[in-house]
Order: sequence, then structure tokens, then C-alpha cells
Amino acid sequence: MAANKSTSRVRPDLPQGVLSQREALEKLDDLTEKSQLGGGADKVDKQHKSGKLTARERIELLCDKGSFDEIDAFVTHNVTDFGMGDKKVLGDGVITGCGRIYGRPVYVFAQDFTVFGGSLGERYGQKIVKVMDLALKNGCPMIGINDSGGARIQEGVASLGAYADIFLRNVTSSGVIPQISAIMGPCAGGAVYSPAMTDFVFMVEGSSHMFVTGPNVIKAVTHEEVSMEELGGAGVHSETSGVAQFTSATEPDCIADIKRLLSYLPQNNLEPPPYVEPDDDPEREDERLDRIIPDNPEKPYDMHDVIETVLDDHEFFEVHKNYAQNIIVGYGRLNGFPVGIVAQQPAVLAGCLDIASSLKGARFVRTCDSFNVPIITFEDVPGFLPGVNQEHGGIIKHGAKLLYAYCEAVVPKLTVITRKAYGGAYCVMSSKHIRGDVNLAWPTAEIAVMGADGAVNILYAKEIAAAKDPVAERARLIAEYRARFSNPYDAAARGYIDAVIKPRETRKRLIRALEVSRHKRDVNPPKKHGNIPL
Ligand code: HXC
Repeated sequence: MAANKSTSRVRPDLPQGVLSQREALEKLDDLTEKSQLGGGADKVDKQHKSGKLTARERIELLCDKGSFDEIDAFVTHNVTDFGMGDKKVLGDGVITGCGRIYGRPVYVFAQDFTVFGGSLGERYGQKIVKVMDLALKNGCPMIGINDSGGARIQEGVASLGAYADIFLRNVTSSGVIPQISAIMGPCAGGAVYSPAMTDFVFMVEGSSHMFVTGPNVIKAVTHEEVSMEELGGAGVHSETSGVAQFTSATEPDCIADIKRLLSYLPQNNLEPPPYVEPDDDPEREDERLDRIIPDNPEKPYDMHDVIETVLDDHEFFEVHKNYAQNIIVGYGRLNGFPVGIVAQQPAVLAGCLDIASSLKGARFVRTCDSFNVPIITFEDVPGFLPGVNQEHGGIIKHGAKLLYAYCEAVVPKLTVITRKAYGGAYCVMSSKHIRGDVNLAWPTAEIAVMGADGAVNILYAKEIAAAKDPVAERARLIAEYRARFSNPYDAAARGYIDAVIKPRETRKRLIRALEVSRHKRDVNPPKKHGNIPL
């Protein structure tokens, strides 16, 4: 720590070493000023030149003006090896504290790349652990801004221990408080596992990278040549691996998205998500929905149009937008109350469930259930995607995750079948049988074991082959099957569907159902935890 100018003054009227109140205040100002400098002007300049904000600038953007109270600003590392004894920086490379976002308290840590490359050592880790413990104890969201070279090499195993201390807290906080990770620089090695265990990962295009082993190690081991961006950039993790739920072009955009996400989430699992006085009419009908389903059942439409038409002010905040686009998940409001949307997208892979979409859907359903956000399901699913790759890739266990998540969820579950609800996918998508609270269908719904073509091929193969005109016979049988099964009325006759509604009425029916089920009481039997097929 640098010498403090205020301690050098002499006050003959005071005992030796005692500062006057003014001097004590000056000393505090002096230390505070020093603690704000991070790694110094050169390093800050370098950070800006690489297109990144500093840790303090990020916190300023994130928190309501003047609301951030820093904790542990004067902590320094405790290492003397590698000439570290005289390289101490107040705060030790991570800024921690409590601030407010739209008036609601949150805990934050922001790694400061200007200090030892944001690398994490023992004291630095203790700072993060302290805010994580406070966030859990006080029931507040925890936001971590990551920009770090990883384990501080000079601190050896102490830094690994510090990571493990953080991982443990990620897990104990999981499902209790929302945990959000923003990746705004490097995040490599085992360090990736803290963000990976949080509820949401945000990345910034071009400047953030996540990987377990970097390009050099990969080249040495597998001889593959790959750039940092190709290996673990925002594009890869938001489109291919699914590690990141959100990407943004800039850091300010990323921070704005974090704030928006929080507006749909409660402070913790014991609170309801935040209600916002609605402007939109709860009884609003929209005739366009009556025309949205193409007459030809093989033709796609964009499910986003349905979702946006139904939600308050047509506002939908999509999660995992670029990953597994055959399923759509995200947040919106109905009459002011946050809801989570899960919907098939008939315009991508015909809305089939495959491995990636099952994982995406399951994760989202569990997040909603953890944080008391009711789930609205819009269903148009021809079934699970056929294919050797899917089977060998484990569609059985991955599809089971989505089924498990829906079965386990005790938040209000409202379902609207817009068109296809075939086979096992009918059961999975919040059906009545797995505790769907309100299950509605449009008149265009087709609730059956499978589509008419497939069913006729299996049921009548011999009859079709033996017919005088096999083509005409097949067409006749398909029409007969359609008339019998490709509609919502067989399911409605059994009470599996509560009501067949006009599409235009969807918003008001959902809002009414939500009002009733908002105070629903349903619990799973006591257990240590379920055993979801991982
Ligand atoms: C100590 C580090 C550091 C680290 C960077 N620095 N990483 N100091 N421990 N892990 C220091 C650099 O020495 C440099 O100090 C300053 O930070 C900035 O680094 P640069 O290399 O100049 O920056 P840049 O060119 O932008 O490259 C950033 C980087 C690179 C890609 C992150 O620094 C890098 O590859 N670092 C090592 C990454 C790594 O292998 N970490 C261990 C991963 S394993 P000066 O004084 O020159 O400014 C891991 C295990 C976690 O983390 C396990 C958890 C269970």
C-alpha cells in the first residue's frame, strides 16, 4: 500500500500516532482515491483501447446513480513470492459491493482486468465469497462481471481454493437468488464453471471469450487450429454451445439487457416476480390470430407473432434467441405480471423437439419454477426429431429433461395448443396429465399420436397395397383419420383440454386463468433433491 500523506503531519497537541478528525478524514479520502485507480492510468487506457470499459464504469452503468456501496475497497493480497510483496493494489483487482437496480438491491462483483489481469487470488476470492454470502443471506440477486486471466499464477493453490469456495456458493445459491454472469473479457480454464453454474450468462461480441482449454493447448493436444473467437466467442456460445443465453454488440447494451432481465425476476425464491402497472387492455382481442395458422398443416408460421400479440404491449424478452431456434423461450408480462414463455417455432425444423431444444426448454422451465414465474406454453410440435444422430446423441435422456422439468414445476402452468400436439411431445409440453393447470386449444389443434400420413402408413399398409387405386385409397384413409383425430375435440371430450377457444381470445383467457392460478398451492414431496436425468 502506498504511503499516506496525511499520516506524515505532526500534531504536538495529540499523542503520537493519533490523527485529528480532519486528518483522519483526509486519510480516508486519500485511500479511497487510490483504491479507485485500479491498475493505474496506463492500464485503464489499454482497457479502453481494447474496446472495454473498466470495472468501475461497468458498475456505474449497472447500478442506479449513486446507489453502489463498495465493500472491501482496501483489501490487498497477502503474497510475497515472485516480487509481489511490493505490488499491492487497494481492492486487489475485484470491486465488490451492494447497489440498486431500479430501486431493488443487488450484490455485484466486477473483476478489474487492469490489476494483474483481473486474476483471482485468495483475498480476491474472499471478497467475492463475502458478497455471495451476503446476497444469499439477504435474498438479493448476485451479478458477477467477469474479465480475468483466471487463477493468479503467483498465488498457486490458494487461488484454486478460492475458486472452489466460489463454486460452492454458486450451488448453494442456485434456485434461491437469481445469479447473473456477464462475460466482458477473458474467462478461461476452470474459471468458466462459476458463470456456467449461474442462471444466466451474458457475453459481449468480439471482446468476451470462454473456454476450458485455450487455442494453444488445443493445438498441442489435438492439432486443431482455432482462434479465440472461433473457440469461445459470443457467437459460438450463443448459437452452438448454448452456454450463453444473451449476446450484445456493446457492453452498455449488455448491461441494459441485464437490467431488463431482472425486471422479470423476483429478489429470491420466496418472493413473487415484480408486478408493473399495465397499460395494455387485459380484454384485448386480436383477430389476426384467427388467420395466423396456414390452411395447409405442413406450412410454417412464425410463433413470435402469436407470442407478441398476446403479451402486454407486444413486448417479448427472448432468452437464448440464437440457440435451438426450434423452441422459443423468454419473458413477458400478462396484465402486469411476469410470465415465462415456452413455445415451439414451426418455422424452424417444423418445431420438432431435438436434443438442443429439449435442453434449452428444460433449463428455462426450471429457472421459471425456481423463481415463481408462471409458465405459458404455446404448442405446435410434430414430435421428437427423427435421426440416428439424435438417437445416438441421447435424445432419450435429453428429451427426458424437458419432460422432467415440466412434471416437477409447481408454478402455474398454462398451455395453448395452436396446431400440432403429436405423440410423446403432447405429453411433454405441459399437458394436463403432468399438472398443466389450464390447457386450451385453438380449433386448428391436432392432438393425436402422430400425423395422419404416418398413421395411415402404419395402420393400413396392407389395405393400401391391395387397393385397386392405392393412391386414392391412401388419400381416403388419410382424410378419414384427419376427420377423426386431427382436431382438438377428442382430447376435449376427455377433459384433457379445458376449452377450445377462438385464437383472438387467447390473451384474455390466459390473463383470467393466470389471475385464478396465481395463488395456486402445489408442492412436490419432501426429498433431498430429484434425480433429473443429466
Ligand atoms: C497473474 C496474470 C494472469 C494470471 C494475466 N496476468 N493473467 N497475472 N495470473 N492468470 C497479467 C499479465 O501478466 C499482465 O501483467 C496483465 O495481467 C495483462 O495480461 P496481458 O497478457 O498483457 O493481457 P492480454 O494480452 O490482453 O491477454 C490476456 C490473457 C493472457 C489472454 C488473459 O494474459 C493470458 O493468457 N493469461 C493467462 C491465462 C491463463 O492461462 N490463466 C490460467 C487459466 S487456468 P502486466 O504486469 O504485464 O500488466 C485457471 C484455473 C482456474 O484459471 C481453476 C479454477 C478451478
